[in-house]
Amino acid sequence: MRKTIIAGNWKMNHLGQDVTITVTSLVQRISPDVKPEIIIAPVFPYLPQAVELAKDSPVHIAAQNMHWEDHGAYTGEVSPAMLTDIGVTHVIIGHSERRAYFNETDETVNKKVKSALSHGLTPILCCGETLEQREAGVMQSWIEGQIEQALSGISAADAEKVIIAYEPIWAIGTGKTATAAQAQEVCALIRRKLASLYTEATAQAVSILYGGSVKGSNVAELTASADIDGGLVGGASLKADDFMAIINGAVVK
Ligand code: PGA
Repeated sequence: MRKTIIAGNWKMNHLGQDVTITVTSLVQRISPDVKPEIIIAPVFPYLPQAVELAKDSPVHIAAQNMHWEDHGAYTGEVSPAMLTDIGVTHVIIGHSERRAYFNETDETVNKKVKSALSHGLTPILCCGETLEQREAGVMQSWIEGQIEQALSGISAADAEKVIIAYEPIWAIGTGKTATAAQAQEVCALIRRKLASLYTEATAQAVSILYGGSVKGSNVAELTASADIDGGLVGGASLKADDFMAIINGAVVK
């Protein structure tokens, strides 16, 4: 059975003290038998601190990006070997902000997903369309193309380890959440694509999250949908109170 997952993407927010306060508060408040899997992605400099604070708790720590090589002349980059070395277990790959502002392409996303898997890191693979694409009626082919290219050359056994996050770009940080029906439609589309690339069993094993203005007040309706297995949360993951409301409100099917 696939897992329900609530992941917080802190983006470029929180100094060290905020990381300590927020992770400590979450660790104290999340019960050891919490149903959804919980993941938080702080910025690189505070990852070791977050790993230490979350040790022996149900909170997993993710990076927000990585390079695909183990080491080398790549100024400013961080490798998967470095992430596993400090106890990071998950990594967000291909977030739309990285695709839009840092030239991330389907090709680099594919390299990163493969590399993460080969290092035992769980990739949180992001996809999503712009409003223009949605209105032009090309959303379906765009999303299918992103999934196909990101998973190119990846075995079914490895694909089952990937978490996919559907994040319509028009809903990120805008307060405009996709309706549960809109989000469900695309998450179901992604699952059908997985079934066509692999098998129905593989498609059923992959957790597909929705992201884009998820909050305590809409998480239940979103996660009650058949193909939405949780949320990738930006703004509402920064404060422990807001994130706890999402964790507690998520429907675990
Ligand atoms: P948001 O961000 O919840 O602030 O819309 C989601 C994301 O970018 O992962």
